[in-house]
Amino acid sequence: MRLLVVNGPNLNLLGQRDPDHYGRITLTEVQDRLLERARELGVELTFFQSNSEGALIDFLQQEARGAQGIIINPGALTHYSLALRDALADTRLPVMEVHLSNIHAREEWRARSVVAPVSLGQLSGTGWRGYLYALDFLVAHVREEGAR
Ligand code: DQA
Repeated sequence: MRLLVVNGPNLNLLGQRDPDHYGRITLTEVQDRLLERARELGVELTFFQSNSEGALIDFLQQEARGAQGIIINPGALTHYSLALRDALADTRLPVMEVHLSNIHAREEWRARSVVAPVSLGQLSGTGWRGYLYALDFLVAHVREEGAR
């Protein structure tokens, strides 16, 4: 099983950026912890981060065919990118949406996600562990669906 782990704008600055909301862990450290868990689960991960909406969409279009699921933190694109939402829907893969901070407990505009309706579920406010929870869930989900 191969899963895509995608991070949107400004998430390359994890660790330095607004640590009260996003913590002090870097994106590389998050990815290392995910790799460790993926090894235990026997699945392969492909990571991608970009600050550009078009690059994220290009990546999804190119890589979805060889993957079974997607974990994505779209950053601020969460709140308005209908193009990213369409690209996710077009992959026809199960998607888990992750946010380090609780987007429902911050500014009003952050509570709206245009990606949520095309996702299986959303993890929000569980910090970096949200990526791990999403990984565990997605692997179980894909295995269950495959066993049907
Ligand atoms: C975020 C929440 C978004 O509102 C914000 O724009 C981000 C990060 C999160 O992980 O909590 O860039 O997706």
